[in-house]
This record gives sequence, C-alpha cells and structure tokens, in this order.
Amino acid sequence: MSTQHASAELTLGTTGIAKRPVDADESRAANRIWWDADADDYHAEHGDFLGAADFMWCPEGVREEDARLLGDVAGKRVLEVGCGSAPCARWLAAQGAHPVAFDISAGMLRHAAAANRETGIAVPLVQASADQLPFADGSFDAACSAFGAVPFVADSGTVMREVSRVLRPGAPWVFAVTHPIRWIFPDDPGPGGLTVTQSYFDRTPYVEVDEAGRATYVEHHRTMGDYVRQLAEAGLDLVDLLEPEWPEGHEREWGQWSPLRGRLFPGTAIFRTRKR
Ligand SMILES: C[S@@+](CC[C@H](N)C(=O)[O-])C[C@H]1O[C@@H](n2cnc3c(N)ncnc32)[C@H](O)[C@@H]1O
Repeated sequence: MSTQHASAELTLGTTGIAKRPVDADESRAANRIWWDADADDYHAEHGDFLGAADFMWCPEGVREEDARLLGDVAGKRVLEVGCGSAPCARWLAAQGAHPVAFDISAGMLRHAAAANRETGIAVPLVQASADQLPFADGSFDAACSAFGAVPFVADSGTVMREVSRVLRPGAPWVFAVTHPIRWIFPDDPGPGGLTVTQSYFDRTPYVEVDEAGRATYVEHHRTMGDYVRQLAEAGLDLVDLLEPEWPEGHEREWGQWSPLRGRLFPGTAIFRTRKR
C-alpha cells in the first residue's frame, strides 16, 4: 500500500482511505494515474536494489539468477507482466531469451525506455493492462511477474485466464505477489505492523481517494484459496508455492517489508505454475 509515497499523493490530490468495492475500469484508471505519478519516486527509492538488467523477485532478495524458477529461458519467448522499468526482461534478454515486457503505466515505461537506451539491451515494451492482453493465443513459451499487475487488478482470475490464453501448453507462468497473510496487518514495517487489525476473509479492496471520492490508488486482496481456484479454472497447474524467508543479515526495508516482520511471517508468495 502506498502510505509512504507522499509526493504521488500530493500530485493526485489524495485526501483519504476508503474501503469500498472497485470495479475493473476504476482499478485500471487508478493504477494508471498512481504508477505514472509514482514512477520517479519508485525508481529513486528502489532502482539500485532492482538494478537495470537484474531479475529480483521480491524484497526478500530472491534472484532468478539463483532460483531459476522459470527454467532455461534461452531462445524462449517470455512475457513480463507489469514490468515497471523492465529490469527482469533485460536480464532475460541477456540469458538469450526473447522477452516482451508490458505495463499499464506510461510513466513506468518511460523509465523502461530510458534503461533500454542506457544498458543497450532494448527489450520490446508494450502499454497494456494485464486483464486485457493484446497478444495472440499461444504466442509465449513462458510468463513472469515480480509484483506487477496481479495485486492491482479487480479480478486476478481474468489475469490468470489471459496469461494462460497467450501461453503454449506446458509453458511456465511464475508470479510474485504480496503474501495474502499480510492483509490482516497494518502496512507498518515496525512493531505497529505486528498486530492483527482486519479479517483475512475481507476481500474489500484498499482504496485511496481524492476529494471527489475518485480512487487514486487501489490494491486488491485474495486469499491463498482464491489464487489456487483461479489457477485451476484458468488451466494452470500449481507446481510450487514459495514463501521466501527473510535472509540473515538482510537489513533493507521496502515499504512494509522489514527484517522485524520478515523473521516472523512471510511477506511474499511466489506461485510457480504451468499451463496444462
Ligand atoms: C510494484 S510495481 C512492480 C514493477 C516491477 N515488476 C518491479 O519489480 O519493479 C507494480 C507494477 O504493476 C503495474 N501495473 C499495475 N496495474 C497494472 C495492470 N492492470 N496491468 C499492467 N501493469 C499494471 C504498475 O504500473 C507497476 O509498474
């Protein structure tokens, strides 16, 4: 959630927090303006941790270079979902893959285009929403996402079906999201974030709004069971579910991710799936 990003909140005129339903159109609109407004701050804060051509899965520091959750990617057409500045896609290209990276936010893609120029690794960039993919059926050999899009769309089941549609049979789809258990705690990296304040079963999204009540930021929650059912319904077999532990000596905070909380309960869930 976005509480530490004061500058985007100022730009968007955010005045408060609401708990109310938000449909697909309003979620897309809110996330487009939010990530456009936050793109510069996001990269100023996290750019050095993410790198320009590195594949970091999560704030716990799991790298694809070590984890190899996608398997051998050389020669494969790989789709990166919600790519931000696309460092993962650039790392994939350096491994011999043929990535395509997309994001809903032009502001994030502006950073991606700049990093393409700076690194000399020019991955194809597309502006699109993860629940409305502009790609042909069966056109990719793998898909991946490091916290891109899935937590922000109104119906992640639509994303699962869309990704499944564009994958060829047998292809992996691996995505990292905020671990659903985090929903029950306040977004506080300190001791305040250790006390349960809301129900795990309450799927009402977290919404920030402007004076007129329009959403300026939206994040949606689903339980573990929701994800498992959505995958099954989309024709995706769950191969593994990783809950990375907080590494010894890793002191870097990322928003609500902190050593204090990371040592007690998971902050990230990485779903490894395969199209049936
Ligand atoms: C937390 S950032 C992660 C970006 C990148 N994967 C990284 O690790 O830095 C979330 C990204 O999801 C994108 N996003 C949000 N909603 C989206 C949607 N409906 N479709 C595609 N991208 C979306 C945002 O614009 C943002 O770039």
